[in-house]
This record gives sequence, C-alpha cells and structure tokens, in this order.
Amino acid sequence: MDITSAEFVVSNSRADMCPQTHLPEYAFIGRSNVGKSSLINMLTKNPKLAMTSATPGKTLLINHFLINKEWYLVDLPGYGYAQRGKKMMEKIQKLIEYYVLEREQMTCLFIDSRLEPQRIDLEFIEWLGENGIPFSLIFTKADKQSVGKTKASVNRFLDTLKEQWEELPPHFISSSENKTGRQEILDYIEQVNRSLKEQAE
Ligand code: GTP
Ligand code: MG
Repeated sequence: MDITSAEFVVSNSRADMCPQTHLPEYAFIGRSNVGKSSLINMLTKNPKLAMTSATPGKTLLINHFLINKEWYLVDLPGYGYAQRGKKMMEKIQKLIEYYVLEREQMTCLFIDSRLEPQRIDLEFIEWLGENGIPFSLIFTKADKQSVGKTKASVNRFLDTLKEQWEELPPHFISSSENKTGRQEILDYIEQVNRSLKEQAE
C-alpha cells in the first residue's frame, strides 16, 4: 500500500471527544521523544504534518490524521517525561490509558532501538496485556547505530518479553531519517485493514 492522501483532522484533549467513526485507527504510543510524530511524517512523506521537536514533550494532544480517506493515524503525547512535572505526567498517563481503553484502535508501541529494555515500556506492555489490548512494536531511530547493534537491542527486548509472553507481537525496525521500515509498516497496516473489513462483512 502507499499513501495517496493524508490530512490532519482534529486535536483533542479527551478521548471521548475524538471523531465518532468506525474507520480503523492506529495509535502511536511510547515515551516522549522516541519518534512517534516523526514516523507519521515519514510514512506520509509530509515533514510538516505532525509536529516534532528535539525537546521531549512536543505532542500534548490526541491528533487524528485521516489517511487515504480510509483509516487514521493517531499521534499521542509521549509518556514518562519527568520534566513536565508529576501532575502533568499523571494527566498524560490517564489520557493515554483512557484513550487505549475507550477506542477500538490498533496500538503501535514505540521503543527506542538504542536503549536497554526500559521499565516504563515493559510496564506499559504489561498493562496492555492485562487489558487484552493487541499491539505491535516499532523500534525507532535505527539510523543512529549499526544494523548489528539494532538487531542485538531488539533481540534483548524480545527476549525480555518472552519471559512473560508466549507469543511475540509483530515488530518493526524504523528510521524516519532514512525511511527504514516504511513499506513493512504500511503493508502491515494494509493487512490489518483488510482483516478488519473481512470481519465486518
Ligand atoms: P513527543 O511528542 O514528545 O512524545 O515525542 P515524539 O515521540 O513524537 O518524537 P518526535 O517525532 O518529535 O522526535 C523527537 C526527536 O527525535 C526529533 O528531534 C526528531 O528529529 C528525532 N527523531 C525521530 N525519529 C528519528 C529517527 O528515526 N532518526 C533520527 N536520527 N532522529 C529521529
Ligand atoms: Mg510527538
């Protein structure tokens, strides 16, 4: 699949105010600064679509982008950015949790491919599991290190998951810088869109 149209639709501070629709939606969730908004721009080939920043905490609202007039990409604020202050962190955590539980979306969880497994990500995955929310993993910023290092890091993360999970989620390696993973992620979304359509028939 390729993207032929990508439009910003709306930003919301509350999950219950998001568009009322039955189109499939893919939520980009993960720690602040991991590269969620950049990936939206990379996938849509529009560097100005989602707001990005070198400083963590850029995205503060739930942003819906309509793709090919058929499905949504949803950019969410990042979790775990301590400098926002405890109150703001809790507010954002609640917003993400409420969004995930209230909307029927596919959760794409973003992990920085350069880091050792982070407790905050593992806890979020555990929470997804407890609530029966399916998800996929996107390991970002692969251009920042060698292919070998990225692979080793991804394997360490997956090995940690294997301690708790019998089956591993679909996972992708990405770089918004050099477009790594673009086709794989879009093909995966196409496949999910197709199976959702079949289920609805
Ligand atoms: P929040 O909105 O704060 O949650 O952050 P975010 O996850 O949306 O991150 P964002 O896309 O704004 O990117 C954060 C920083 O990382 C920016 O300076 C990006 O240019 C950079 N960045 C994102 N993806 C990549 C990547 O694949 N490679 C490299 N080298 N830099 C990246
Ligand atoms: Mg962002």
